[in-house]
This record gives sequence, structure tokens and C-alpha cells, in this order.
Amino acid sequence: MSPAAEAVTDALRELHTRFAGLRDGRLADYIPQLARTEPDAFGLALISMDGHRYSAGDAGTPFTMQSVSKPFVYALALSVLGLDEVCRWVSAEPSGEAYNAISLEPDTGRPDNAMVNAGAIITTALIPDTPDTPRFERILDCLSRFAGRRLDVDEQVYASEAATGDRNRALAYLIRSTGPLPVDPVAAVETYFRQCAVRVTALDLAAMAATLANGGVNPLTGDAVVPEPVAAQVLAVMATCGMYDASGEWLLRVGLPAKSGVSGGLIAAGPARFGLATYSPRLDPGGTSVRGRAALGALSERLGLHLM
Ligand code: DON
Repeated sequence: MSPAAEAVTDALRELHTRFAGLRDGRLADYIPQLARTEPDAFGLALISMDGHRYSAGDAGTPFTMQSVSKPFVYALALSVLGLDEVCRWVSAEPSGEAYNAISLEPDTGRPDNAMVNAGAIITTALIPDTPDTPRFERILDCLSRFAGRRLDVDEQVYASEAATGDRNRALAYLIRSTGPLPVDPVAAVETYFRQCAVRVTALDLAAMAATLANGGVNPLTGDAVVPEPVAAQVLAVMATCGMYDASGEWLLRVGLPAKSGVSGGLIAAGPARFGLATYSPRLDPGGTSVRGRAALGALSERLGLHLM
């Protein structure tokens, strides 16, 4: 093993041990099925640009993507429609608000960015829906190519969110009332719920983040999933908006584009270097994994990963 590989292996193991005892935070329970998760699962994974996979703990445990899906569906929308057309519908400014806030620009009615729920719902709605390739199939295919294997949907989590997701439905109706939503609000939100329920592991998420870091080319499969400029655009929005109203402090302290999800997944990308992911389902009040945040912060410090 090279000294660099040894340093990464040691760091992941050491951080897994250091933070295993951290039991702060609460499971997401507004999606009832997520409250049934094993609370103490903890996995870390890193994939380098040459396709080396490093992991510690529960890096093979399945969980649903939730908001970690948002940057990848944004990448698909940018690939299909281009930056200018996507920006006509969704802005790219930090909202300074929670993920489920009514973050719509007062003058245009556009959602502030594609990382908050309002922006993610409209991003999903922008993905073309054709008889040959229904919208969700196109999304699942793209997410699978980012991961480098065929992903599937956790139907129980999907059904649980569909049964309780009125706030997101309300957001979709509000977006339609302030500016045209390209599809029926109910259809847009149902597809968004399915994308949130796509099942992954920390190793899958590390591959997905590594694909963004590698200019859109999956380092495990060699598949060019999205064009290089799109990967850079997505990383830019992750850097400014991926951690919601904690994005500024995250960039200050950790210094990497990142995205969190309420099932406990968290990704970060080091452009041209690596994709990182953690899984630990206890969350802080902003909906970010407590251990994930602590572990990625410590890893950035230990390996000098801060981009600035
Ligand atoms: O729309 C929701 O509320 C969930 N499906 C996803 C929210 C989420 O993951 C927020 N991120 N930390």
C-alpha cells in the first residue's frame, strides 16, 4: 500500500473509532419509516480518482438518498437542458433558510437553489418525460450510472413519505402559483419522493461524489455520466448551498462542496482528488448527520483537504 493510501485507511479507521461513541442527534421522524432506522449505524467511504475504494464501519449498509439525490438530479437537468434554461427555473443563491422553507425569490418566484426542497422539486419536474423513457426511469438510470451499479427504490420509505409529505406538495402548489411549474404539482412531488427513496450505501455515495470530482466520469466504471462543465456547475452549487443555512460555516471549516440528507447520508467532493461519504442517521436540528459532520470536519483537518 502506498503511503497516501495508508494515510487514508488509517484516517478512516481512526475517525470511525473516535466518533463511534457520539450519540447526539435524533432520527428524522417526519418520514415515519426513517424513525425505524438502526440509530447507531456508522460508515465512512472514500473513492479516489484512480478508483481505489477505502472504507470503515457500515459502509455497505443500505439507506435512502433523500436530499443527497438533489445534486445528481440537478446534474441530469443541466445535462439535458443546459445552464441557462435551468437557471430560468431555479436560481443559484444560498437561501439562508432550512431545506423545507418557502425559499422563493420575491421578484421571479424561482426557488433560490436546487439544493432546497422547493428547487429540487422543480429540478425533478424539468427532467423530460417521454413514452419511451418515463421521467423517473431517466432519473434512476442517471443515479445508477453515478453509483456504477443498478440502484433500486425502498418502496416502504417512498410510501411513508408519500403518505406524510404534504409540506412538499404545498411547496409545489406555491411554485405553480408564483410561476409556471412545468408539470402537475402532484406528479412532480411523487417523482421527487421516489428519487429521495432510492437506496444506496456509503460506498455508492462515495462513487457518486467521486464522479462529480472526476469531471463527470465515474472512476470505477469509466462511464462519462455528465459533461465536465456540468460536474463543475453542480460542485459550485453544492459549495454555496449544499448544507442549507449552514453552508457558509461548512465551507469555512471543512472547505469542500457537500450535500446532506435526512436519512443520515452526507457526501463531500475534492475536485480531481476524491469523493467522500458518511452514513450515520442521528441528525442535528438542520437535518445533517451529527457524526457525519464531525467525521468529515476532522478528516478535512487531518488530511488537509480544505480547498481554500
Ligand atoms: O423532502 C424531504 O423532506 C425529504 N425527502 C428530503 C429532505 C432532506 O434530506 C433534507 N436534508 N438534509
